[in-house]
Amino acid sequence: MDVTTASAALGRGITPLILEEVARLMVKVNSYYTNAMEGNPSKLKDIEAALNKHFSKDKSARNYQKEHLAHIEVQEAMVHRLKTEPDLKICSEGFLCWIHEQFYNRLPEDMRFATTVSGEPVPVIPGELRDRGISVGRHDTSLVTRDEVRSYLGKFEQALSPERLVGSRKLLGMASSHHRFLWIHPFPDGNGRVARLFSIAYAYKIGMGTTMLWTVSRAFARNRPDYDANLNWADQRPRNSLDGRGPLSEENLTQFCTYFLECCKDQISYMDETLKLAELERRYDHYIEGLRKNKIISKAGAKVMGRLLLQGEIPRAQVQEIADVKQRRATDIIKELFEAKIVRSESTYGPLRLSITTEMSAVLFPGLA
Ligand SMILES: Nc1ncnc2c1ncn2[C@@H]1O[C@H](COP(=O)(O)OP(=O)(O)O)[C@@H](O)[C@H]1O
Ligand SMILES: [Mg+2]
Repeated sequence: MDVTTASAALGRGITPLILEEVARLMVKVNSYYTNAMEGNPSKLKDIEAALNKHFSKDKSARNYQKEHLAHIEVQEAMVHRLKTEPDLKICSEGFLCWIHEQFYNRLPEDMRFATTVSGEPVPVIPGELRDRGISVGRHDTSLVTRDEVRSYLGKFEQALSPERLVGSRKLLGMASSHHRFLWIHPFPDGNGRVARLFSIAYAYKIGMGTTMLWTVSRAFARNRPDYDANLNWADQRPRNSLDGRGPLSEENLTQFCTYFLECCKDQISYMDETLKLAELERRYDHYIEGLRKNKIISKAGAKVMGRLLLQGEIPRAQVQEIADVKQRRATDIIKELFEAKIVRSESTYGPLRLSITTEMSAVLFPGLA
């Protein structure tokens, strides 16, 4: 209940357009954490560089950047589907395979491999379920054939689809499905990333993550041993005949749910703290003032930026009035802000929107990544 209330209150008092920009930033942050958990060492600034089409000369570093671009695109495509297809069945085999397919299709060829227990590389076909046993966490999964995997995905959909659950059971469904999906481990590789994207979809579906201002992956990644230990705990068999009717311990699942929801609460509180308007504005002004002092932007440019945080967007024609300058000077100011990469626009003549660079995000959201 805490999670639901906190999530609904998040970002209150801040212009929706600014929240949209924060959500854009969070897609990068999510990619940063979820891929870091799988060994991707890129920093937020490397992701930003990749988005600006600047790639490392080193092949492996470049591949890691591409992995992020792939992840960001998949998340955007997924959110688009969630927004435009209200009947989307997120727990269906079709949707889960779609996430995997979209991600792997975008990965560089030499990243589409999984390693077997004995260390041999096997190719990963985008969107294709595994057809061999696999080692998950500390033990080998009991599901070996594709038919077994498929059959368990069917049970998964039946038991955990959000539309089949009511009230607070939806929240438990979100938490449980994260573990149950990973226990099934339907793909030869990529299950962690797919599971964490899937949980975003689940949060969206149950009306908890519609603004996408937080990511639970940040909590998982910041305490990886805890994440693995909790997953591992929920993999255990029932202790006795009272511990659930299925193949796994219900008591341990309850504990996993508590862990998962605590992680959500943690992340929502963190974002809530950083999004308090007065404090956010103070850090923002401080950052903009720094850019002015370093002559990256002019005084008039800083004034426009000050207005942008409160307004969310500024039609280009309004710059002249805000900065109190002639038309030609207004054009220069706009150019200067674009060059500093702190504004962006959906089209050539479209209004100015805030662009939260990595450098700016470090000041606005201390400790974010
Ligand atoms: N004991 C466990 N039980 C179930 N899932 C686990 C366990 N330990 C780790 N995991 C999950 O497995 C993921 C790794 O699986 P993998 O297919 O390699 O996915 P990815 O390639 O995205 O890392 C981890 O990120 C974690 O989510
Ligand atoms: Mg992996």
